[in-house]
Amino acid sequence: MKTFEVQAKDGLAAEKRIDELTDAINYHNYRYYMLEDPVISDYEFDRLVKELEALERRYPQYVRGDSPSKRIGGAVSEKFARVKHALPMLSLDNTYSKEEIIEFDKRIKRFLDYNADENIEYECELKFDGLAVELIYKNGVFFRGSTRGDGITGEDVTTNLKTIKTIPLKLLKDVGYLEVRGEVLMDKENFKRLNEERLKEGLPLFANPRNAASGSIRQLDSKVTAQRNLIMFAYGIGKCSKEINFKTQFELINILKSLGININKNVKITNGIEGAVDFFDDISEKRESFSFEIDGVVIKVNSVSLQEKLGEISKSPRWATAYKFSAKQEVSVILGIKVSVGRTGILTPVAILSPVNIGGVVVKRATLHNQDEIDKKNINIGDRVLVERSGDVIPEVAKVVLKGKLSGAFNLPGKCPCCGSEVVIDGAAHRCMNELSCPCQIKGAIVHFASKRAMDIKGLGAKIVDRLVETGLIKNVADIYYLKQGDLRNLEGFGEKSEENLFNSIEKSKNISYDRFVYALGIRHVGEHIASLLVRYFGGIEGIKNATVEGLSSKFGIGYEIGKSIYNFFRLASNLYVIERLFKAGVSPHVNIVKPDESNLIAGKSFIFTGALSNFTRDEAESLIKERGGIIEKTVKKNLDYVVAGKESGSKYDKALQLGLKIIDEDEFKSLIKINQ
Ligand code: IVH
Repeated sequence: MKTFEVQAKDGLAAEKRIDELTDAINYHNYRYYMLEDPVISDYEFDRLVKELEALERRYPQYVRGDSPSKRIGGAVSEKFARVKHALPMLSLDNTYSKEEIIEFDKRIKRFLDYNADENIEYECELKFDGLAVELIYKNGVFFRGSTRGDGITGEDVTTNLKTIKTIPLKLLKDVGYLEVRGEVLMDKENFKRLNEERLKEGLPLFANPRNAASGSIRQLDSKVTAQRNLIMFAYGIGKCSKEINFKTQFELINILKSLGININKNVKITNGIEGAVDFFDDISEKRESFSFEIDGVVIKVNSVSLQEKLGEISKSPRWATAYKFSAKQEVSVILGIKVSVGRTGILTPVAILSPVNIGGVVVKRATLHNQDEIDKKNINIGDRVLVERSGDVIPEVAKVVLKGKLSGAFNLPGKCPCCGSEVVIDGAAHRCMNELSCPCQIKGAIVHFASKRAMDIKGLGAKIVDRLVETGLIKNVADIYYLKQGDLRNLEGFGEKSEENLFNSIEKSKNISYDRFVYALGIRHVGEHIASLLVRYFGGIEGIKNATVEGLSSKFGIGYEIGKSIYNFFRLASNLYVIERLFKAGVSPHVNIVKPDESNLIAGKSFIFTGALSNFTRDEAESLIKERGGIIEKTVKKNLDYVVAGKESGSKYDKALQLGLKIIDEDEFKSLIKINQ
């Protein structure tokens, strides 16, 4: 495999170095935009770009025809129709230090012939870490939407963009022709949930929310996009009719807001660059508290007439810059590599690190994803590595900085570390095929079955399940319901009370909703959403069991692969036997249809939560609503019935106030669900 080790080497001829950098940046652009699977951090990438730009400025004779500096970044996929942007979608220059920001201000003043003591007015915004898009409105109606692509030509993703609730299909006012520009994002909560689902379904994980957003927009089935709960923030415009009149960037943002377009309220006007630096410091502190990822702030000259005077340098405006957060990276040593086996049999390598503090969090482990990643980065035990942590994402090994004693890359074992059976390579995954008796897969299946969003059996977590399986008390999920009083007394950590609690919880779980039951079975590729679709279309286990692969896949367009997996699950006698024993033990799932009646104030009503509640987690509160037939919304909109506001509620609260919605506090919420405490 080709590797791009691009470090400064003394005496390296400029031409050779330009070649190396050009190849490396093109390769990383391809990984980022086309495969949506970057292998280096943005910080490292930006460093490579800066180095190339500096060399190209000094040695223009060596600039290659395919130099990335000639492009704005991005790529256009063949999957979608192409759309030429009326005006190029530019990129931003990047800065990582206060010194560079001061230099940016000085450059502007020099260019405009300002004195050193005269101040420029800046407008500061968040730098959203997502996918740039352009939305065209004709006579106030959403007409077409596209990705930025290479800045000149993008991909037509209109149908997918229409599924995003924060993108208005009609503006509040007809302003003729308007191109809105902004960023599509997946918030951290949805990203976490999506990856948890994908892990359970044995699908490759998204590296970060940005890739997840990009993958969700740049894919062919808009039903999938709709399920991803994406959001969009606008930050600018392209071509527009004369009706749109503004003298400053701030005025523009307010015009967009008045048209019903979603903008973020964290905008600040500063007289002079110091205020912009303060804004950056303030946002850096608040970074983790945002529900979506940002990678810095954008500082823009506020006055449009000054922007026009300043113009552009090749691919970015001279009047704006991105002041980005430095990556949270630290060097550590890989002490060992632990390979775990999950419910679906996939082997996952995890690096055990010498503990290191990264941005205030002590990191002891980092994911290595799979064998391909290990090979690509040439990682082995004993290597000194750069570990990176961004937002809520699991820490990662970014790259090796110094090889240890072991040459080459670590190899995942050919035999399952849990049961010793043969490991088979299945795409990017190494998988133990001993589905029915590998203890790790059995334990994983039981933990999944008992988990909160499935059967919700409290007290049956990973540690207890380990003991129950190891002592032979349970071998599959049905055995849970055949445990007898006293069975658990001799287990470490179990007393009379905890045993009683567990039995109560097991008993309660017998009366679960049908979609949760189907999800709990752990059929490969069947997450919560597909489980509820299956129940809705086929009524229950009998209907699902008797469906053909074609019937399953055509019914609601879940695709052949998933249909086959469901079909095969019900062809395995051992699975049918487990289900039969579950039913015999009294598990009796019910279809969850709650009819509105006078005493139920929740059925059919829509709710949104903002801020933290003191007595419930967000999941718990949402489940209470769903169990009573209510609907959970993710975005604030006009016809919402209730906004439940906890402590430190954010922008959803402000928007709810603006729209005059019914806002209730935690006590009112409690009385609504008739919980008296
Ligand atoms: S302004 C001409 N404002 O950053 C100015 N961009 O590297 C162009 N971005 O492609 C963009 N937040 O996708 C602007 N508040 C913001 C932004 C923002 C994120 C993205 C945008 C752009 C990239 C530039």
